[in-house]
Amino acid sequence: MKVFGVIGYPVSHSLSPVMHNAALRHLGISAVYGAFEVRPEELEAAISGVRALGIGGLSVTVPHKEAVMSFLDEIDPVAERIGAVNTVVNREGRLFGTNTDWLGVKRSLEEAGLELSGKRAVVVGAGGAARAVVYALRELGAEVEIYNRTVEKAERLARDFGGRAYPLSEIMRASGEIVIQTTSVGLKSRESPVPEEVFKNFRVAMDIVYVPLKTRFLVEAAAAGCKTIDGLKMLVYQGAEQFRLFTGYEPPVELMYEAALEVLRGKERDQAS
Ligand code: ATR
Repeated sequence: MKVFGVIGYPVSHSLSPVMHNAALRHLGISAVYGAFEVRPEELEAAISGVRALGIGGLSVTVPHKEAVMSFLDEIDPVAERIGAVNTVVNREGRLFGTNTDWLGVKRSLEEAGLELSGKRAVVVGAGGAARAVVYALRELGAEVEIYNRTVEKAERLARDFGGRAYPLSEIMRASGEIVIQTTSVGLKSRESPVPEEVFKNFRVAMDIVYVPLKTRFLVEAAAAGCKTIDGLKMLVYQGAEQFRLFTGYEPPVELMYEAALEVLRGKERDQAS
């Protein structure tokens, strides 16, 4: 039986096991997908373990996406450019690193029917997560503007992928087809990094945070009349692309989304009670 899994620290909150196991079961594939909590100082040993145990593939999450790159045999040029690996595939003993986060963003935008070529897209935040978002937007042909509290980080991102950089304090001057929230501000909180008045300047708003599923950013965007895309879409699509790489099968995306949603709703109910 093949074994796959996710490595992270912490990892107990990860929705990847539920998504991947639902898909494996659905297709009758004889494999399991587990969650491995790996401390940063044990990352190298964990990767040796993947080789020794013949683990078929890994999803890689925070804080290992950059560090894991030095322990692999080959890295996809796209992952190299984004500067992060979220997927490791064991190809007959050779460990291949790639990045499906940007595909998660691209597919979420495509599924929503957006045509971004030549249109302006505004990204809020310039951390690790923003890199995959900006890369996807550039691949879709969008003009990108990045607003970040620390403007130097926005400038670096703009230089790396092409785009313009601004301090977050100037966000009220932003406008475009879509605004995408990539900061950690709304995560497990009821805060938004932008004033709600900003949404009148956009048609669509997307958040990559999915805990809570309805972030304040998305609630305010919807109230202002924007079409909204939640963070669970990106998570599921990046996982679906991993599933394709791990198994060679077409991922049952709807089923993976429903499985993840059910767990997320359960968690939100537990917190509310
Ligand atoms: P990730 O890899 O999840 O993107 P990160 O690299 O730590 O995490 O980046 C976090 C992002 O959230 C950054 O854009 C950060 O802004 P700075 O670059 O100025 O630190 C942003 N962020 C975090 N807390 C914020 C806050 N209170 N207000 C505005 N932006 C915030």
